Amino acid sequence: MERKIKLHDKSFRLFIPNDEIESAIDKVAARMNADFSGKEQPPILVCVLNGSILYTAELMKRLDFDAELLSIRLSSYEGTNSTGFVREVMGLSRSIEGKEVIILEDIVDTGATIETLVSMLMEKGAASVKVSTLLLKKEVYKRDIPIDYVAIEIPTRFIVGFGLDYNELGRNLKDIYVLDE
Ligand code: IMP
Ligand code: MG
Repeated sequence: MERKIKLHDKSFRLFIPNDEIESAIDKVAARMNADFSGKEQPPILVCVLNGSILYTAELMKRLDFDAELLSIRLSSYEGTNSTGFVREVMGLSRSIEGKEVIILEDIVDTGATIETLVSMLMEKGAASVKVSTLLLKKEVYKRDIPIDYVAIEIPTRFIVGFGLDYNELGRNLKDIYVLDE
Protein backbone atom coordinates (compact mmCIF):
# COMPACT_ATOMS: atom_id res chain seq x y z
CA MET A 1 0.00 0.00 0.00
CA GLU A 2 1.46 3.35 -1.05
CA ARG A 3 1.58 5.78 1.89
CA LYS A 4 2.24 9.02 -0.01
CA ILE A 5 0.68 10.17 -3.26
CA LYS A 6 0.62 13.25 -5.44
CA LEU A 7 -2.48 14.63 -7.22
CA HIS A 8 -2.06 17.70 -9.42
CA ASP A 9 0.16 20.06 -7.35
CA LYS A 10 -0.51 18.56 -3.89
CA SER A 11 0.85 15.71 -1.75
CA PHE A 12 -1.32 13.46 0.36
CA ARG A 13 -0.51 10.78 2.92
CA LEU A 14 -2.40 7.68 4.01
CA PHE A 15 -5.08 8.52 6.56
CA ILE A 16 -7.76 5.79 6.72
CA PRO A 17 -6.94 2.34 5.32
CA ASN A 18 -9.56 0.47 3.34
CA ASP A 19 -10.23 -2.17 6.02
CA GLU A 20 -11.22 0.56 8.50
CA ILE A 21 -13.52 2.15 5.93
CA GLU A 22 -15.16 -1.20 5.22
CA SER A 23 -15.76 -2.05 8.85
CA ALA A 24 -17.25 1.40 9.48
CA ILE A 25 -19.62 0.75 6.55
CA ASP A 26 -20.50 -2.66 8.03
CA LYS A 27 -21.69 -0.90 11.19
CA VAL A 28 -23.79 1.70 9.36
CA ALA A 29 -25.38 -1.03 7.24
CA ALA A 30 -26.25 -3.04 10.35
CA ARG A 31 -28.01 0.01 11.83
CA MET A 32 -29.90 0.69 8.61
CA ASN A 33 -30.91 -2.96 8.36
CA ALA A 34 -32.32 -2.80 11.87
CA ASP A 35 -34.23 0.42 11.09
CA PHE A 36 -35.57 -0.41 7.61
CA SER A 37 -36.18 -4.16 7.56
CA GLY A 38 -39.83 -5.14 7.43
CA LYS A 39 -41.04 -1.78 6.08
CA GLU A 40 -43.88 -2.12 3.62
CA GLN A 41 -42.60 0.38 1.10
CA PRO A 42 -38.99 0.16 -0.11
CA PRO A 43 -37.09 3.36 0.68
CA ILE A 44 -35.20 5.27 -2.01
CA LEU A 45 -31.45 5.61 -1.67
CA VAL A 46 -30.20 8.87 -3.18
CA CYS A 47 -26.57 8.66 -4.23
CA VAL A 48 -24.99 12.11 -4.37
CA LEU A 49 -22.73 11.96 -7.43
CA ASN A 50 -19.84 11.67 -7.94
CA GLY A 51 -18.27 11.44 -4.51
CA SER A 52 -20.71 8.93 -3.07
CA ILE A 53 -20.42 6.29 -5.78
CA LEU A 54 -18.07 4.01 -3.83
CA TYR A 55 -19.86 4.53 -0.52
CA THR A 56 -23.23 3.81 -2.15
CA ALA A 57 -21.90 0.64 -3.79
CA GLU A 58 -20.29 -0.71 -0.63
CA LEU A 59 -23.27 0.16 1.56
CA MET A 60 -25.91 -1.24 -0.82
CA LYS A 61 -24.19 -4.63 -0.95
CA ARG A 62 -24.71 -4.88 2.80
CA LEU A 63 -28.40 -3.91 2.92
CA ASP A 64 -30.84 -6.77 3.32
CA PHE A 65 -34.07 -4.84 2.68
CA ASP A 66 -35.50 -3.81 -0.72
CA ALA A 67 -34.46 -0.33 -1.76
CA GLU A 68 -34.60 1.72 -4.95
CA LEU A 69 -31.64 3.80 -6.13
CA LEU A 70 -31.66 7.30 -7.58
CA SER A 71 -28.77 9.66 -8.17
CA ILE A 72 -28.43 13.42 -8.05
CA ARG A 73 -25.50 15.66 -8.76
CA LEU A 74 -24.78 18.87 -6.88
CA SER A 75 -21.72 21.03 -6.77
CA SER A 76 -20.29 23.34 -4.11
CA TYR A 77 -16.58 22.69 -4.11
CA GLU A 78 -13.80 24.25 -6.11
CA GLY A 79 -10.29 22.96 -5.42
CA THR A 80 -9.94 22.32 -1.69
CA ASN A 81 -12.59 24.81 -0.47
CA SER A 82 -16.37 24.88 -0.27
CA THR A 83 -17.88 27.89 -2.06
CA GLY A 84 -20.93 27.67 0.23
CA PHE A 85 -23.12 27.96 -2.87
CA VAL A 86 -24.78 24.72 -3.98
CA ARG A 87 -25.86 24.13 -7.57
CA GLU A 88 -27.95 21.22 -8.90
CA VAL A 89 -25.99 19.83 -11.85
CA MET A 90 -28.13 16.74 -12.51
CA GLY A 91 -31.62 16.14 -11.12
CA LEU A 92 -33.53 13.01 -10.06
CA SER A 93 -34.91 10.84 -12.85
CA ARG A 94 -38.11 9.75 -11.03
CA SER A 95 -40.64 11.06 -8.55
CA ILE A 96 -39.96 10.58 -4.84
CA GLU A 97 -43.46 11.67 -3.83
CA GLY A 98 -44.58 9.91 -0.66
CA LYS A 99 -41.36 7.87 -0.42
CA GLU A 100 -38.95 7.44 2.45
CA VAL A 101 -35.59 8.70 1.27
CA ILE A 102 -32.08 8.01 2.54
CA ILE A 103 -29.43 10.41 1.23
CA LEU A 104 -26.00 8.83 0.80
CA GLU A 105 -23.22 11.41 0.92
CA ASP A 106 -19.46 11.00 0.74
CA ILE A 107 -18.72 13.74 3.23
CA VAL A 108 -20.53 16.41 5.23
CA ASP A 109 -18.33 19.46 5.75
CA THR A 110 -20.06 22.86 6.19
CA GLY A 111 -23.41 21.15 5.64
CA ALA A 112 -24.41 23.56 2.85
CA THR A 113 -24.91 20.68 0.42
CA ILE A 114 -26.89 18.47 2.76
CA GLU A 115 -29.10 21.33 3.94
CA THR A 116 -29.96 22.29 0.35
CA LEU A 117 -30.53 18.68 -0.60
CA VAL A 118 -32.80 17.82 2.33
CA SER A 119 -35.05 20.80 1.63
CA MET A 120 -35.03 20.03 -2.11
CA LEU A 121 -36.18 16.45 -1.44
CA MET A 122 -38.84 17.54 1.05
CA GLU A 123 -40.14 20.01 -1.55
CA LYS A 124 -40.32 17.19 -4.07
CA GLY A 125 -42.73 15.45 -1.68
CA ALA A 126 -40.59 12.88 0.15
CA ALA A 127 -42.43 11.36 3.13
CA SER A 128 -39.21 11.47 5.16
CA VAL A 129 -35.55 12.18 4.54
CA LYS A 130 -32.73 10.50 6.46
CA VAL A 131 -29.08 11.34 5.92
CA SER A 132 -26.13 8.99 5.82
CA THR A 133 -22.55 10.04 5.21
CA LEU A 134 -19.31 8.11 4.93
CA LEU A 135 -17.40 10.98 6.56
CA LEU A 136 -18.37 13.85 8.83
CA LYS A 137 -16.15 16.85 9.61
CA LYS A 138 -17.59 17.14 13.07
CA GLU A 139 -15.96 20.41 14.13
CA VAL A 140 -17.16 22.24 11.02
CA TYR A 141 -20.72 20.95 10.85
CA LYS A 142 -22.95 23.30 12.86
CA ARG A 143 -26.33 22.96 11.17
CA ASP A 144 -29.54 21.61 12.68
CA ILE A 145 -30.23 18.78 10.25
CA PRO A 146 -29.46 15.49 12.00
CA ILE A 147 -26.93 13.29 10.25
CA ASP A 148 -28.59 9.99 11.05
CA TYR A 149 -25.95 7.50 9.93
CA VAL A 150 -22.28 8.53 10.09
CA ALA A 151 -19.65 5.95 9.22
CA ILE A 152 -16.49 7.88 10.20
CA GLU A 153 -15.92 11.22 11.96
CA ILE A 154 -12.80 13.10 10.86
CA PRO A 155 -11.05 16.32 11.93
CA THR A 156 -11.14 19.44 9.74
CA ARG A 157 -8.71 18.31 7.04
CA PHE A 158 -8.92 17.99 3.28
CA ILE A 159 -9.02 14.35 2.21
CA VAL A 160 -9.23 12.32 -0.99
CA GLY A 161 -9.91 8.72 -1.96
CA PHE A 162 -12.79 6.25 -1.79
CA GLY A 163 -14.84 8.47 -4.09
CA LEU A 164 -13.56 11.84 -2.89
CA ASP A 165 -11.52 13.96 -5.24
CA TYR A 166 -9.12 16.85 -5.47
CA ASN A 167 -10.10 18.58 -8.73
CA GLU A 168 -11.48 15.27 -10.04
CA LEU A 169 -8.46 13.11 -9.23
CA GLY A 170 -8.17 10.55 -6.42
CA ARG A 171 -11.67 9.08 -6.52
CA ASN A 172 -10.36 5.62 -7.42
CA LEU A 173 -8.07 5.26 -4.38
CA LYS A 174 -9.32 2.50 -2.11
CA ASP A 175 -7.86 4.11 1.02
CA ILE A 176 -8.45 7.68 2.21
CA TYR A 177 -5.53 10.15 2.09
CA VAL A 178 -5.10 13.50 3.84
CA LEU A 179 -3.49 16.64 2.44
CA ASP A 180 0.12 16.74 3.59
CA GLU A 181 0.86 20.28 4.73
P1 IMP B 1 -20.45 20.95 2.30
O1 IMP B 1 -21.56 21.46 1.44
O2 IMP B 1 -19.53 22.06 2.75
O3 IMP B 1 -20.92 20.10 3.46
O4 IMP B 1 -19.51 20.09 1.39
C1 IMP B 1 -19.92 18.90 0.93
C2 IMP B 1 -19.27 18.49 -0.37
O5 IMP B 1 -17.99 19.09 -0.56
C3 IMP B 1 -19.03 17.01 -0.32
O6 IMP B 1 -20.11 16.31 -0.83
C4 IMP B 1 -17.76 16.84 -1.15
O7 IMP B 1 -18.11 16.68 -2.49
C5 IMP B 1 -17.02 18.13 -0.96
N1 IMP B 1 -15.97 18.02 0.11
C6 IMP B 1 -16.05 18.46 1.39
N2 IMP B 1 -14.93 18.18 2.07
C7 IMP B 1 -14.11 17.53 1.21
C8 IMP B 1 -12.79 16.95 1.34
O8 IMP B 1 -12.12 16.97 2.38
N3 IMP B 1 -12.31 16.35 0.22
C9 IMP B 1 -12.99 16.29 -0.96
N4 IMP B 1 -14.22 16.81 -1.12
C10 IMP B 1 -14.78 17.42 -0.05
MG1 MG C 1 -20.28 15.17 -2.50
